[in-house]
Amino acid sequence: MSTDLIAPHGGELINRLATAKEKQDFLAQADSLPIVQLDERATSDLVMIAIGGFSPINGFMGQNDYLSVVKDMRLANNLPWSVPITLSVTSAVAEPLEIGSLVRLDDPDGKFIGVLQLTEKYTYDKQLEAENVYRTDEDKHPGVKVVYDQGEINLAGPVWLLERADHPQFPKYQIDPAASRDMFQAKGWKTIVGFQTRNPIHRAHEYIIKCALEIVDGLFLHPLVGATKSDDIPADVRMRCYEIMIENYFPQDRVILAINPSAMRYAGPREAIFHALIRKNYGCTHFIVGRDHAGVGDYYGTYDAQEIFGEFTPKELGIIPLKFEHAFYCTLTEQMATAKTSPANKDERIHLSGTKVRAMLREGKTPPPQFSRPKVAEELAKAMKVN
Ligand code: ADX
Repeated sequence: MSTDLIAPHGGELINRLATAKEKQDFLAQADSLPIVQLDERATSDLVMIAIGGFSPINGFMGQNDYLSVVKDMRLANNLPWSVPITLSVTSAVAEPLEIGSLVRLDDPDGKFIGVLQLTEKYTYDKQLEAENVYRTDEDKHPGVKVVYDQGEINLAGPVWLLERADHPQFPKYQIDPAASRDMFQAKGWKTIVGFQTRNPIHRAHEYIIKCALEIVDGLFLHPLVGATKSDDIPADVRMRCYEIMIENYFPQDRVILAINPSAMRYAGPREAIFHALIRKNYGCTHFIVGRDHAGVGDYYGTYDAQEIFGEFTPKELGIIPLKFEHAFYCTLTEQMATAKTSPANKDERIHLSGTKVRAMLREGKTPPPQFSRPKVAEELAKAMKVN
């Protein structure tokens, strides 16, 4: 690995893919190991751990790390980490499992995909997690609801993924951290901005991405395709929109499109830190944080997800946040802008958001050009008719 690239979080890119020998040994024990069935989120967490996306995490968190993360946004060794990575099960599932033993991890379809070496089982305080990580204890919050609905015991320990299967929908865009790092190096990029998104790309996204592209060598467009809430636009539709954008409106040689397999938490500020650290592991030097990053409803202030970066030193995070104000279409200057670049009054600002795009599409309306590029709007309208 080149010394030019940013170091992964904690210094080393974790690789928890079973070797051929380990895989063979695990498969030989398939019928004798106790089984824990993972849900969609835990499955994607297992994958992210294995491919190094969550470096330095090498398994599901033990109690010391968990409590330290929940209370102080740091691992027990003081390294910044903002979101717990846990495997929560019911007492009935946890009870027969013996500390020190291997546990077979099955995906939601019952396929044997990984192994956990069980080092700890512990109870935890769901309300504390909700209040600290999500800043609310309301179960209407989709991230809090997941915490309340999951089991009351956390299983912890290092994991192995048996094999890195191709993504069923987007194999071409499955670029894991080791590969993205190689690609950045091959392109000679020294500065790379990561962009997290879970919404169809709209003009405010395009504006802040292009502002960032003015000052870095390349863009790592990294939409999240793991579990999202049910009213978010499906990943396949969003992926087509990103392809359309790159083909028509971006300098193609300055963009790499890749999928982020992890699940949304909707934890706003805490998730912005988490998202930045993930992109650092993929080799990004910069990370875009716009308005209400990873937010949902009115749980977070518009810029809370930017302010939280002030709780860490730049050195301990390593990746540089690029913070953008709420972007809008300015009818006065006939371009995208923010309050920093436009003198427009309130009536001259057309505000856009993923929520508004979704609402228009549900009503059968095509988003206007100030909102979405026409080819993207067409694609969205078509997809929503079919669905
Ligand atoms: S998120 O949950 O992944 O944050 P979304 O895909 O809408 O949702 O946002 C991707 C990124 O674009 C985030 O950094 C978000 O803050 C930013 N963003 C979205 N809309 C705007 C906007 N109108 N102005 C500025 N930044 C925005």
